[in-house]
Amino acid sequence: MPNIEPVDRFLDQNGARFVDELKEFLRIPSVSANPAHKPDMQRAAEFVRTQLEQAGAKAQIFQTAGHPLVFGQTDGAEGGLTALVYGHYDVQPPDPLDEWKSPPFEPTVRDGYIYARGATDDKGQLFTHIKAIEAWNKTVGRPPINVKFVIEGEEEVGSDNLDVFLKEHKDLVKCGVAVISDTSQYAPGVPAITYGLRGILACEVVLQGPNRDLHSGIFGGSVANPCNMLARLVAKLHDEKQRVQIPGFYEDVLPLTPQEKQEFAKLKFDEAAFVADLGVPAVCGEEGYTTIERRWARPTCDVNGMFGGYTGPGPKTIVPARATAKITCRLVPNQEPEKLMAAMQKFLVANCPPGVRLEFKPQHCCTGIVMDAKSPYMQAARRAVADAFGAQPVMIREGGSIPVVTTFRDLLGVDTLLLGWGLNSDNLHSPNERFTLADFHRGTRASAHLWNELAQQH
Ligand code: BES
Ligand code: MN
Ligand code: MN
Repeated sequence: MPNIEPVDRFLDQNGARFVDELKEFLRIPSVSANPAHKPDMQRAAEFVRTQLEQAGAKAQIFQTAGHPLVFGQTDGAEGGLTALVYGHYDVQPPDPLDEWKSPPFEPTVRDGYIYARGATDDKGQLFTHIKAIEAWNKTVGRPPINVKFVIEGEEEVGSDNLDVFLKEHKDLVKCGVAVISDTSQYAPGVPAITYGLRGILACEVVLQGPNRDLHSGIFGGSVANPCNMLARLVAKLHDEKQRVQIPGFYEDVLPLTPQEKQEFAKLKFDEAAFVADLGVPAVCGEEGYTTIERRWARPTCDVNGMFGGYTGPGPKTIVPARATAKITCRLVPNQEPEKLMAAMQKFLVANCPPGVRLEFKPQHCCTGIVMDAKSPYMQAARRAVADAFGAQPVMIREGGSIPVVTTFRDLLGVDTLLLGWGLNSDNLHSPNERFTLADFHRGTRASAHLWNELAQQH
């Protein structure tokens, strides 16, 4: 086993430079959802490629039907294990802009945090793995195992072209285990390894009323109002017990085992603090489940946004022409996204109020996943995380989705180590996204140690 001391020393001595480079990365507004940022996507991909090269890896950019993807590779001891690091350089839109204390693409350090869109999701987190490789290559000369990188630019919009790339380059991305840092620790001071994620299905429904906005005094009451009707339709999605009303929605859900329920219950969870932090009067969710169970292991249905009619300042009196709702469901393992997409459409059509035309637009989807929490690779990861964070990680599931994890299992037959260095309080997808600098450095160290631990596991 190579001596890791020079690697650790290199990380300590270069930490400040890593933060400067991360800032440069965070200045690129690589918002995948917005076509106006297309040139920034290319710039971000080039930045990642250059970083990989400076870390001593070979790297190239692959163009896709959407945003470019970066592939990198650095060789370890011959015949050894290959790990594949996945990350995404794309970020969520920064809106609402006026709620940011410092601009989203002007990274700012305050009180030990770096604030910027993408700070934790996922630029800051993926960067730790590049820096860990740099440390091995510039001290020992090579990492203890082969490490490949796939850094894509479409995670936040469903990763459609990533699957195409992985299928077409199956040999190139072949590996024994995948590694992703795109989740969170359980709590400050409580690092975690995530062994399960929820899946997702996303769609849009448009209710079309009159062919133009109408004066509500002249026409109101004589034709259906699409906004009123959309509210009625959306209200039918749940009952009072917060159970989703789409027929068959829960049919394939695997119930939580008593053992897993117990494991969840053992985790320290302060509901009062949770409620206070979010500023809600109370928790609310499917009857019969704890908050952790609701978040990690139960399917849900959420309206992400509704719009239509006049939303500007002051009053306006119209019957709007149309109204739209963007809807997503979080899915759990064994639920089939395609089947539920069809069930969703059928439900909306069947419940469409009178006087409007309904248009249904299916978007992306992916399945939920649960992995073996006790595999030897998981054990190796636990040791690396404990070394770097100074505390034993807890094993958790998460409610978010990372579509590629299922692809890695189905296409490459490998499990993924989900090693999150961030915190749920880092405001991912919200204004004032941030990453604790200490966690950034700890994550880098954990990554460097992981390659060593995995080498022994092989
Ligand atoms: N990094 C998140 C996923 C995540 C966050 C998982 C926190 C667990 C804990 C990822 O970037 C993300 O936002 N994924 C989307 C996926 C979707 C667009 C297909 C999500 O979960 O909404
Ligand atoms: Mn992410
Ligand atoms: Mn995200």
